Amino acid sequence: MIREEHVLLIGFMGAGKSTVGRLLAERLQAPFIDCDKLIESRVGSSVSEIFSHEGEEVFRRMESEVLGSLSGTEPAVVACGGGVVVRDANRSALRRLGRVIYLRVTPGESVARIGDASTRPLLAGASGQLAATTLLDARESLYRSVADLTIDTVGKTPEKVAEEAIDWLGGDV
Ligand code: S3P
Repeated sequence: MIREEHVLLIGFMGAGKSTVGRLLAERLQAPFIDCDKLIESRVGSSVSEIFSHEGEEVFRRMESEVLGSLSGTEPAVVACGGGVVVRDANRSALRRLGRVIYLRVTPGESVARIGDASTRPLLAGASGQLAATTLLDARESLYRSVADLTIDTVGKTPEKVAEEAIDWLGGDV
């Protein structure tokens, strides 16, 4: 990539941030960073373990640290965790770090794509669909408030979504 900034993918769980992110990184010949995976490798435990042993707040702190650590690093395609937009400071950081693409998904599609929600602590309860609806409802305006581009992913393959992102990024990458 030529521009000195990241391409950041945000959106709800199951929106395809990691899958599309990998495709985008390949096309842009840029490194790919998955924030959840980075946290897991730094801490040595899974996101679910962090949630159950230390609580969501501790995870959110780690998420903010990882985001902060991306400042001034080699431009990359970054897949953020679905809840990254909840903290004000993270939303400011996202705007500073580069161009933000919001991958939009419906609650129903999110739950269907995820299937076994055991790795997603916030959807793992009795009614994943209800949790997804409530959470997404609360976050939709936050995603939109930081997005430079919104792509609806329902009914589209990850390749098609990546293609739309590339078209928007143009030659300016
Ligand atoms: C979360 C989304 C997850 C992960 C954690 C919390 C959320 O990431 O960060 O389970 O609050 O929406 P993905 O969106 O990559 O599943």
